[in-house]
Amino acid sequence: MTAATTEKNATPLPDDAPPIPDDAVMVTVKLLRYNPEQDEEPHWESYRIPSLPSDRVLNLLHYIKWYVDGTLTFRRSCAHGVCGSDAMRINGVNRLACKVLMKDMLSSSGETTLTIEPIKGLPLEKDLIVDMEPFFEAYRAVQPYLKTTGNEPTRERIQSVAERERFDDTTKCILCAACTTSCPVYWSDGNYFGPAAIVNAHRFIFDSRDEAAEERLDILNDVDGVWRCRTTFNCTDACPRGIQVTKAIQEVKRALMFRRR
Ligand code: SF4
Ligand code: FES
Repeated sequence: MTAATTEKNATPLPDDAPPIPDDAVMVTVKLLRYNPEQDEEPHWESYRIPSLPSDRVLNLLHYIKWYVDGTLTFRRSCAHGVCGSDAMRINGVNRLACKVLMKDMLSSSGETTLTIEPIKGLPLEKDLIVDMEPFFEAYRAVQPYLKTTGNEPTRERIQSVAERERFDDTTKCILCAACTTSCPVYWSDGNYFGPAAIVNAHRFIFDSRDEAAEERLDILNDVDGVWRCRTTFNCTDACPRGIQVTKAIQEVKRALMFRRR
C-alpha cells in the first residue's frame, strides 16, 4: 500500500460534542485513513479536537470515533498497556496509544499536531487495523510453549531463582508487534521472523525446564531467521514493556554460534 496522497481539511466538531473543559487545548490529529470499499490508497484526514494533558492518545481516538466520525476503525481492549492491541505509529514511532500521555506530546510553543498511522510491514485492512496473521504465523513457528520428553512428572518442575531469572525479561512480551513492525529488515522482507518471534523463542530456549532449545535454534538458523537482524535497536526503542529486544536477539545468535546455554 502506498503512502497517503490527499489531505482533507480538519473536520469540525459536531454540535452535540461534549462541553470542552476549561483547561483543554485544541490539537490537530492527522490520521491516515483507509477504507478498502471506497479508497484506492490511504489518505490523511485531520481533526481539531480538545485534549487535556492527562489524556492518553487513545482518548483522542475515542473522541474522534464517538463524537466526530464513527467510521474510524482501530483496535484496543484493555486501555492499560496489557493486551497489546493498540500499537500504532504516533509521530513516526511505534507506540501503544493507551500508554502515550498527551502531556508529553503537547507543544510548549503553540500548535500541537499528532500524526497517527498504522504499524508498517503488515497488510493494511482498514484505517489503523492491519492483518496480524503474518506476525502470529512467525510467532507460532518458533514453538512458543514448553516442550518436554518422557513421562509427565508427578510434581512440579523445579527451577532455581537464577534459572528463572535467565529468561525473565522475555516473559514480559504482550505480542503487540511494535518491535517487529519498527524493524527495517521486516519492512523490506516480510519473511523475516522478526524481533517478537525471536523474543518468544528466547523465552523458552533459556528456560531450564524446556527440552526443545535445539529445535528452536535450528528454526532460527534459517535464512529468514536470527541472522537477518542488523542490530538497529528500533525494536528495543519501540517495546512498550521495556524488553531488551536486541540483547535477546544477540543472546540467541550467541547460543547458535556456541550451541550451549
Ligand atoms: S517484545 Fe515488546 S514490542 Fe515486541 S511484541 Fe513483545 S511487547 Fe511488543
Ligand atoms: S489497549 Fe491494551 S495495550 Fe493498549
